[in-house]
Amino acid sequence: MTESRKRELQAELDSLTVHRETQVGWDENTPPNETLDQYGNLLASNRGVVPVPDNRSPKRRVYDDPDVEALRAHLREHNGIRGLEICDPSEVKRAARIFRRDGFVVVRDLLNPEQLERWRAGCAEALRQILETPGPGERKYMTETGRLPHRYSYGTCSASRQMLHHRAWARMLDLPTTTPIVTEIFGSSDYRVWGSGGDLCLPGAIEYQHLHSDGRDGQHLSEARVEQARRVGVEFNTDSAGNFDVPTIKLIMEMTPPTVTINFLMADLTWENGPIRQIPGTHAAQQPPPHTDDEPDWMRHSTLVGAPAGAGVFRDNRAWHGATPNLSKEVRALPNVEYAAPWRTQDGFKVVMPHEIWETLTPHAQKLCDWIKAEPGVWPPGAGIMHPLAAAREEAAK
Ligand SMILES: [Fe+2]
Repeated sequence: MTESRKRELQAELDSLTVHRETQVGWDENTPPNETLDQYGNLLASNRGVVPVPDNRSPKRRVYDDPDVEALRAHLREHNGIRGLEICDPSEVKRAARIFRRDGFVVVRDLLNPEQLERWRAGCAEALRQILETPGPGERKYMTETGRLPHRYSYGTCSASRQMLHHRAWARMLDLPTTTPIVTEIFGSSDYRVWGSGGDLCLPGAIEYQHLHSDGRDGQHLSEARVEQARRVGVEFNTDSAGNFDVPTIKLIMEMTPPTVTINFLMADLTWENGPIRQIPGTHAAQQPPPHTDDEPDWMRHSTLVGAPAGAGVFRDNRAWHGATPNLSKEVRALPNVEYAAPWRTQDGFKVVMPHEIWETLTPHAQKLCDWIKAEPGVWPPGAGIMHPLAAAREEAAK
């Protein structure tokens, strides 16, 4: 790469925002579905390895390419759930009802203008760090290990696996607009913070990410889980042997998600800028979602178009979801906070929050974070290092 090209790319990064038009993205030197391994080596595309390729994507990553224009025209016409319900933060019970029915719910005005501005600045700063590493050959960026091009996760790009060393993320754990809804969903305030990260796509992320659930629900019927089901109003019926009958067990599982994530919107979701897609009613499905090649159009269009900046989507992590093409000129960033159910044990929780960040939290947030906070003077391994390649992150977290 020539020196003048390097300067040009640096200027793009310096001026990047996550809510207005930007020069970043749309790298025509990065072919569709191209994947990098943990060291940044190119893997042959379309081999069916992780990540799942989108074989229907445009063939070139160019803003006005005819295939891209055709996809844009299609999305303008079809993208978005018709009649998407959007709640106010005061509609706590309605939000919880829709969440339990659909496996997700959109709530507006979770962030005030100042909170939104601060998080936008934090998202831009962390993204700049991720994109600083140039890609192989003439590519503008290093693609994140194991992801499709132009798609990154704040969580997995952080060498500590979470963003809770960053004030912009940590201050959003306990908001007057979100805490009542999370409490209503869990039926108690004894839940925990598991982590905080979120995903983003650059302009020119032309491929669909495959539909998936986040994590697996082992569906063990623990006493604590039954207790949470009771608290959220599940009626218990028994069979002739005195055990819970099958409909009761199914309802307990449906109503007690292991994890609830809130993804916050840094910009309005439009038909063009990669709105997240959520498939309603799939949070307790045991079947896997359809493979990308078989996904019907109605699922590809089942996106949250119309959800405004400052809103958030409360997601049951089990519900099928995926990212969609960003054909705009804006970054689409959805930083998140992840909460673990009161019935979960400490198993799998990692120390990712520095003590000095924990000290700045509200008393409720401090309680939520006591399984993930570091002792005074101990810095969580890797916290603060952002890198697209897994090998570099491992090295940083040693
Ligand atoms: Fe996901």
